[in-house]
Amino acid sequence: MLWQIAIACLLIYLIRNYWLKSNFLEIAKLPGPPRLPLVGCAFRFIGHSQSELFKIVTDFPKEYGNRVCIKVFNRYILHLYNPKDIEIILTSTKNITKNRPYVFMEPWLGTGLLLSTGAKWHKRRKILTPAFHFDILKNFARVFEEEGRAMVRDLHERLQRGERTLNVMPFISDYTLYTICETAMGTRLNSENNASKAQYKESVLGIGLIVMNRLSRFWLHSDLIFYLSSMGKKFKKLLEQNFAFTDRVIEERRKNWAETKKEETSSGKRRMALLDLLLDAESKGEIDMEGIREEVNTFMFEGHDTTAMALTFGLMLLADHEDIQENIYEECKSIFGDSTRTANTSDLAEMKYLEAVIKEILRLYPSVPIIGRMVTEEFKLDDITIPEGTEVVVHFYNLQRREDLFPEPELFKPERFLNGDKMHFTYVPFSAGPRNCIGQRFAMQEMKYMLSEIIRHFKLKSIVKGYRPKITMDLVLRACEPVNIEFSAR
Ligand code: HEM
Ligand SMILES: *[C@@H]1O[C@H](CO)[C@@H](O)[C@H](O)[C@H]1NC(C)=O
Ligand SMILES: *[C@@H]1O[C@H](CO)[C@@H](O)[C@H](O)[C@H]1NC(C)=O
Ligand SMILES: *[C@@H]1O[C@H](CO)[C@@H](O)[C@H](O)[C@H]1NC(C)=O
Repeated sequence: MLWQIAIACLLIYLIRNYWLKSNFLEIAKLPGPPRLPLVGCAFRFIGHSQSELFKIVTDFPKEYGNRVCIKVFNRYILHLYNPKDIEIILTSTKNITKNRPYVFMEPWLGTGLLLSTGAKWHKRRKILTPAFHFDILKNFARVFEEEGRAMVRDLHERLQRGERTLNVMPFISDYTLYTICETAMGTRLNSENNASKAQYKESVLGIGLIVMNRLSRFWLHSDLIFYLSSMGKKFKKLLEQNFAFTDRVIEERRKNWAETKKEETSSGKRRMALLDLLLDAESKGEIDMEGIREEVNTFMFEGHDTTAMALTFGLMLLADHEDIQENIYEECKSIFGDSTRTANTSDLAEMKYLEAVIKEILRLYPSVPIIGRMVTEEFKLDDITIPEGTEVVVHFYNLQRREDLFPEPELFKPERFLNGDKMHFTYVPFSAGPRNCIGQRFAMQEMKYMLSEIIRHFKLKSIVKGYRPKITMDLVLRACEPVNIEFSAR
């Protein structure tokens, strides 16, 4: 009898809580797709492809405005599309914990800089920040230059073989991968390890796809069930493939590290690549091998896939706008004259127009279109209370295409960024606040090098003018179809 009463009380308690939560929670009153009892909107998301899901969430504001609340079982997920709200979320120094989707990346990236929180994140950010210091970036110029030149040579050779049309994404991502390997990891990819490079890239794509597929299949959320499924088994295999590559990168550097360190300190120029900083921290007992692997995986991925996608979309837009290509070309001509020398850092600083072009590329195609946070402490978002446990999703993609903030938002107009207006939380492709992109200057430098090299040597033409591929988001924003561009030598 007693336990029956106990169960009845428990049930009443749960129902009361549920009722209170769904009726009195301020966020539960926000507009959003219709919620069924208990399951909420869970079924709204089932059975859709990744690109359809991306379209659903980017279309929300049209129907529900700029604050949308989604309930999936007992989770409340708040989608934000407003500069003011986004500012509050991004500038918070306490609400820095990442939300659900990121958790599914943990078996891969561990709790490296991207995924960690609290004290661990603080400590890692402190160890790693010097790796992106201005002086270090200057030292990377040689690598950017070499890779830029190699890329141009590669393109010329393709043209000579009669390959005028190029699927740019796989091509570009080879070069961004070489660049991050050599700059951050101090490891050169060569013909010996290029097979594992191909496997690495394949594994990144596969992992991204599975992480996002898992997200929309709630029955795969439990690790137990996931790893029994065929998807989970595939995931495990891809991870092994991925780790084989990164472990080799670490071991190779470890072998050379002691010597390089001696050389560099004796010659007075200390040029610590990111991986060196990690190995140095390891020798001081601040990080272990597990930690190094987390960071190497984090940076290898964040450092090549993001810039590769931005460059891919960028070349697509440029191929459609010959006038903008000409403007870039003229700017380069005013800097280099008739010389064919490659750019150095002071040249890059003069490329103001190209900088505006890159900003406009990232406005339309932010490589990281959506980010998320878990609210760990109740707070006020302007006028509404956001309870602990809410997940917040910030939509850079929508924000940067808002008509009220960017007139004619679909048009590619670099001029928007030429008058030096400060864009206060209306344009944040690298995020902002304490968890902003640590590699943002690195990324801008790399993209300037590559785009200026390409435009100085080639003219680009789109195959079908104005064609835009369907896009999707896995870990980064991607085109669903190949982006093919026609190249001709200048
Ligand atoms: C076009 C290029 C890039 C874009 C648009 C971009 C964008 C972003 C964004 C939006 C975030 C915040 C993510 C979040 O809060 O969940 C971020 C974080 C991060 N980015 Fe980038 N990124 C780019 C390139 C790079 C590069 C080249 C590197 C490394 C060399 C890098 C390393 C990182 C890392 C480690 C974080 C996590 C920082 C932290 O939480 O402390 N990114 N990036
Ligand atoms: C979250 O941010 C808000 C606004 O900055 C702040 O009032 C609140 O204390 C923060 N809570 C956490 C966990 O940061
Ligand atoms: C690896 O390099 C060799 C020689 O440079 C080349 O023939 C081969 O196609 C490359 N393989 C991959 C997978 O890139
Ligand atoms: C870049 O090259 C130009 C022309 O050769 C030179 O005047 C300038 O000092 C160089 N800047 C750097 C940082 O090397």
